[in-house]
Amino acid sequence: MSKKDKLSTEAYKGVRDFYPEDQAFFNYLCHACQSVAERFGYAEYHASILEPAELYKAKGAESEEIVNEQTYTFVDRGGREVTLRPEMTPTVARMVAAKRRELGFPLRLFSIPNVFRYERPQRGRLREHWQLNVDIFGSRSLSADAEVIAVAHALMLQLGAKESDFTIKLGSRAFIDELAKKYSLAPDVAKLFTQLLDRRAKMPAEEFEEKLSELGIPNEALSPADLPSDVGEIISLLKESGVTNAEFDPSIVRGFNYYTGVVFEIFDTHPENNRALFGGGRYDNLTELFDDEPLPGVGFGMGDVTIQNFLELRGLKPAYVSAATLYLATASPEALPHTTAMAEELRKNNINVAVDFGEKKLGEQIKTAAKQHIPYLMVVGADEIASGNFVARNLDTGEETKLTQNEIVSFFNNN
Ligand code: HAM
Repeated sequence: MSKKDKLSTEAYKGVRDFYPEDQAFFNYLCHACQSVAERFGYAEYHASILEPAELYKAKGAESEEIVNEQTYTFVDRGGREVTLRPEMTPTVARMVAAKRRELGFPLRLFSIPNVFRYERPQRGRLREHWQLNVDIFGSRSLSADAEVIAVAHALMLQLGAKESDFTIKLGSRAFIDELAKKYSLAPDVAKLFTQLLDRRAKMPAEEFEEKLSELGIPNEALSPADLPSDVGEIISLLKESGVTNAEFDPSIVRGFNYYTGVVFEIFDTHPENNRALFGGGRYDNLTELFDDEPLPGVGFGMGDVTIQNFLELRGLKPAYVSAATLYLATASPEALPHTTAMAEELRKNNINVAVDFGEKKLGEQIKTAAKQHIPYLMVVGADEIASGNFVARNLDTGEETKLTQNEIVSFFNNN
């Protein structure tokens, strides 16, 4: 094969490869999500990434932008139209509708699925991301809205954030509908109004105000003297549970058609990371796609890409450490059986050990361990085997500890 016939090592556009360091961060993030969700009593579920395409075409199920321009849809060998899920909410609504007799309500569910959207890849936006979904079904109480927001807040704190690092912005579909009624907007104008609000942050204030007045709405209409009652109630419930960085923002409308009540987004307060970290809201009619019984839901999605940017910007991303604690270098091929036996003994004592097969010089073996961020290295060679004395070298600090054969297990169990 000539060089130009070789395949590219690049991943497909807009998706990521997860090398061990990336996977370790992902695992850390998932662990934080899981422990916070479980602390609030949410149970984990999962589903296939494949869904029948009609799930996203059903009226009201999705944002038009996502269905028309952003889904990965293909026809399978049996002629069925299939979509790689662009979000989890229709899937979880389908699952809950399918077993509504068996599941007790209020039902608290969470999952960390990968979702696919054919977007223009850019900072904070990829074609595949993992998204924590936290949802509660079967409650109309505003306490349920407040609870899912409190879960999001608790997760931010769990990841090391302070309240001043992020803002929770709440909007209200009911408030927008009332304005549309008050200013007698025709349905298509009301839609333009929502779209304008959605794009507000992306345009200069003057341009926004001009467009708003073109639709016949005065700017003051967006700064009511009193908060919309649902938003006010949720903010006060949140305050009672110690969440004090939530505020009303009428331009939070969210792109999905299925939201019916309060909607919210959480933003990084750092200007370099201006995309939403979390997005969610109340959707009272989604399960009606599957049967006639309404079942209210409220929840949010949080993506792994934007949260990683957030943590990196603030020095909150944990440093990578390999899962292996010790790299056993093999000084010469004859020493390998001894290295292998020692590794087995250490593993019996729950120490994670990787073995070098002794194919390269010791210097190269040390470089391998360092490249793989394995914290300790110990050489096994004729001298060590004969004397029973070993040296554990910390590859970060260079510190060396002499150990007899009998001391090795307790040293690594305590380090
Ligand atoms: P969403 O606002 O489309 O909501 O996505 C939620 C979060 O996922 C965003 O705030 C962002 O962190 C992340 N995200 C979205 N698109 C991308 C992308 N292309 N690349 C990287 N990250 C992205 C939903 O999907 C709703 N289904 C959430 C929900 C659950 N509502 C109620 N329950």
